[in-house]
Amino acid sequence: MTYSNEVMDHFMNPRNVGEIEDASGVGTVGNAKCGDIMKVYLKIEDGVVKDAKFKTFGCGAAIATSSMATELVKEKTIQDALSITNKTVMEALHGLPAVKVHCSCLAEEALHAALWDYAQKNDIVIEGLNPPKEDVHDDDHDLYESHVK
Ligand code: FES
Repeated sequence: MTYSNEVMDHFMNPRNVGEIEDASGVGTVGNAKCGDIMKVYLKIEDGVVKDAKFKTFGCGAAIATSSMATELVKEKTIQDALSITNKTVMEALHGLPAVKVHCSCLAEEALHAALWDYAQKNDIVIEGLNPPKEDVHDDDHDLYESHVK
């Protein structure tokens, strides 16, 4: 399997690893097939994403896509943040092997789940934003905490 230089760079030197303590929105998503888990934190001020961080318990492509997604979302308005898809992230990474495309979907879902959390907390509706597909199972949370903390 061949990875682009961009994927290798974001895997070896991931940007924005960590948590935001007073995050405006947090999204946790999991991939049922591979068991990988991704958590994205967003700090939103005046309708703009001011900071983004992530913690991912997952494969190299999941780490690279989390890193790129959190880079891309910074300084974006909420609507522009919402328009970041797995395709956007993959393009920025100069592609992913076909069997790793699902890892980039996790990054899109985590971003959108964090926006959803922000909307819920502030009692607002973000047009075009759907609720996260499914909540990560409680067991996955335990698994996540034990591996990532
Ligand atoms: Fe699970 Fe990549 S193999 S997210």
